[in-house]
Amino acid sequence: MKANVMMLPGDGVGPEVSAAVEKVLVEVARIWGHDFSFQHGLIGGASIDACGEAVSTATLQACQASDAVFLGAVGGPKWDGGEVRPEQGLLALRKALGVYANIRPVHPHPSGFAASPIRPDRLRGVDLLFVRELTGGIYFGDKVEGADKASDLCSYSADEVARVVRRAAQLAVGRRGKLTLVDKANVMATSRLWRQVTEKVMAEEFPSLELEVLLVDAAAMHLLSRARDFDVIVTDNLFGDILTDEASMLCGSMGMMPSASLGDGRASLYEPIHGSAPDIAGQNVANPIGAILSGAMLLEYSLGLLEEARAVRRAVNACLDHGLVTRDLAAMDQTALSTKQVTQEVIDQVNGCVIQNQVAAAY
Ligand SMILES: NC(=O)c1ccc[n+]([C@@H]2O[C@H](COP(=O)([O-])OP(=O)(O)OC[C@H]3O[C@@H](n4cnc5c(N)ncnc54)[C@H](O)[C@@H]3O)[C@@H](O)[C@H]2O)c1
Repeated sequence: MKANVMMLPGDGVGPEVSAAVEKVLVEVARIWGHDFSFQHGLIGGASIDACGEAVSTATLQACQASDAVFLGAVGGPKWDGGEVRPEQGLLALRKALGVYANIRPVHPHPSGFAASPIRPDRLRGVDLLFVRELTGGIYFGDKVEGADKASDLCSYSADEVARVVRRAAQLAVGRRGKLTLVDKANVMATSRLWRQVTEKVMAEEFPSLELEVLLVDAAAMHLLSRARDFDVIVTDNLFGDILTDEASMLCGSMGMMPSASLGDGRASLYEPIHGSAPDIAGQNVANPIGAILSGAMLLEYSLGLLEEARAVRRAVNACLDHGLVTRDLAAMDQTALSTKQVTQEVIDQVNGCVIQNQVAAAY
């Protein structure tokens, strides 16, 4: 298969984890005989430094014309308080690609149990999927900024809610058949619209699915006390942003969490959920697993390469099984590997799995 992947490394640890993904994808292309080409662009602080904009029109157009986009992370103290903020590039990119459904799997691996503040008996068997609305809500509403008063408008249309709920419900059909809506319908008008639209879509289009509704404050608690009960959780942009950072602690580290942002257009966007982690940037210690698993989602969702995506996920699991982890997950008595070492181990495992399959097929 021929594919053009747009790489936007961004800032902080973004370039380190992007390099990891590119290496894994190059290896996948080599093993399976694909022709992947990689184009590189600037976003966030790196783009502000180069051209004064958080992302240029040319970069957005190149992303729209690609088969898939991978983004590292944006932001950092260097650009805090500036007139142009790195995050504006990210929001502009999501909007330009129309990727309204941000899918964030949460599937703790036992190697992360010791690094999680939650008891292992509450982590075993957790396998849930967040679907966060990504191109609407308070992040995109009109803003008023003043020294004495400020406001952010949160607005959603019924269509914006219906399309993301539909996506989430379709994912639940292929899983355990349960959808949880998280909102704040006791206080917020937008949440009441979310509840009304969700109940309608579910009753008319997905009557066989189970629907649960939770207020966001209670959901924050249930996520830690009974995470195993959740299958697919759908929620708005702000609540999804916050709850998925909380959920990362079920996996032991922010560095473990991948995401795919899908719309109805050609190019989808893939990024780990973590930020630019300025505290560890440039040290070759960032966990590349969330980024590499985002690469596996890219192979599956954008390129339809299921076998290759599975091989990458198996390779990641094999590394975790063997305790080949960065310092965020390493136990006291365990040697922590660097970003580059973990990446190489994943690549070696992809090769190892493929060779094993070939041997098995020959007999
Ligand atoms: N999608 C994005 O690009 C995105 C998302 C969130 C925050 N940000 C930006 O990133 C900057 C830093 O934000 P923050 O510190 O609140 O969040 P962060 O996600 O960058 O870091 C939070 C904590 O998680 C750790 N961490 C993050 N990624 C890790 C990895 N791969 N391996 C190991 N540990 C990892 C960090 O060291 C830090 O202790 C800010 O400028 C913020 O605006 C960007």
